[in-house]
Amino acid sequence: MKLMVVGGGGREHAIIKKLKENKEIEKIYALPGNGGIAADAECVPVGATDIDSIVKFAVENAIDYAVVAPDDPLVLGCVDALEEKGTPCFGPRKNAAIIEGSKVFSKNLMKKYGIPTAAYEVFDNAEQALEYLETAPVPTVIKADGLALGKGVIIADTREKAKQAVISIMKDKQFGDSGNQIVIEEFLTGPEVSVLSFTDGETVVPMISSMDHKRAGDYDTGLNTGGMGTVAPNPYYTEAVAEECMNKIFLPTIRAMKAEGRPFKGCLYFGLMITRDGVKVIEYNCRFGDPETQVVLPLLKSDLFTVMRAVTDGKLAETPVEFDDKCAACVIMASEGYPVKYEKGYEITIPEQIADKVFVAGAALKEGKLVTSGGRVLGVTAVADTLGKAIDNSYYMVGQIHFDNAFYRHDIGKRAMEAEI
Ligand code: AMP
Ligand code: GLY
Repeated sequence: MKLMVVGGGGREHAIIKKLKENKEIEKIYALPGNGGIAADAECVPVGATDIDSIVKFAVENAIDYAVVAPDDPLVLGCVDALEEKGTPCFGPRKNAAIIEGSKVFSKNLMKKYGIPTAAYEVFDNAEQALEYLETAPVPTVIKADGLALGKGVIIADTREKAKQAVISIMKDKQFGDSGNQIVIEEFLTGPEVSVLSFTDGETVVPMISSMDHKRAGDYDTGLNTGGMGTVAPNPYYTEAVAEECMNKIFLPTIRAMKAEGRPFKGCLYFGLMITRDGVKVIEYNCRFGDPETQVVLPLLKSDLFTVMRAVTDGKLAETPVEFDDKCAACVIMASEGYPVKYEKGYEITIPEQIADKVFVAGAALKEGKLVTSGGRVLGVTAVADTLGKAIDNSYYMVGQIHFDNAFYRHDIGKRAMEAEI
């Protein structure tokens, strides 16, 4: 079996390491991969959004199965293009990836099918949005319709800031065409839970729950990032919450997508908030989360490749998906200045005995040495019997790793440890 994984971050490293547990797999290519992934797969210098080259590579190298991990190629139709040439894939087709690719689509889907989410209005005209904001309650949340590198959500605590966000997105085109339409929605409060799920379009199997830490600074201060650390399971995701989610959110979403003629196959990510009025959907992602994957997959007991094949073949209902009764924590080591501006090219030293606990996100190989090449550099992950131990072990390993200008949050998992359920 020859596999290909599209993408090149910490999430892809976690996916590749898990896939490698299957002995049927002889070879894994990563497109483009990164300097750390190179230890586990053969990296091919093809960008994750270069669909034509990805398809060409799959055909020329007789790839048996492809995993398309990032949002952009999925939204661009990478799976459709690969399937057309006969390569089976893990990931949704373009007409289903729109659940992440367009916030207007996902909000309208939830409204049509009664799936709980924040109240909202859609605007395709800046003047009307600005007029609406004259009387809208604050704080309010402004969302660019399309993909915006995780930066398209602005929480405005004053009307002035909200208006500024509308102007940047719709008039100044901060996110290009992604801002042709916007959603303005009600500000919700409550603990957040990420639930990744496997679905073949009919059956949905939630994975172990997790908690992301999106802000750059300790105690949720500073700018929003792609995620500075994760823990799994998330203590707020109790059995009662899980049941509510299955009945009111997970199954209705899968059925809604099918009814719309857009069956979703792959990993559907539910970003949820547990509010006083019940669980509500904050966002859908059409893929594995990053860095949620780095804590979820190490806890997967079943063989990942078998589960992925079952998703592709529509056989998820008859395929067991089991998780270890353990906990995991991942601390992201980033470059000082992330998510705004940071320097690259610093040598990274990781002690040999902990190297397999480190998922590499932003690093390159230079003269045989691993050097920093991105904002998020490493995801240092520990699995243990308790959450406390997993967090301690992960920070212990962080202390043994070095690169210049490294920074990380010191409170990953603290909120989870203090959760009062
Ligand atoms: P996203 O970039 O879509 O992952 O959203 C970033 C973060 O914004 C989410 O994780 C939430 O913390 C926050 N957020 C998004 N929508 C809302 C909302 N309606 N109310 C409160 N917070 C929100
Ligand atoms: N960690 C959030 C995301 O993957 O979008």
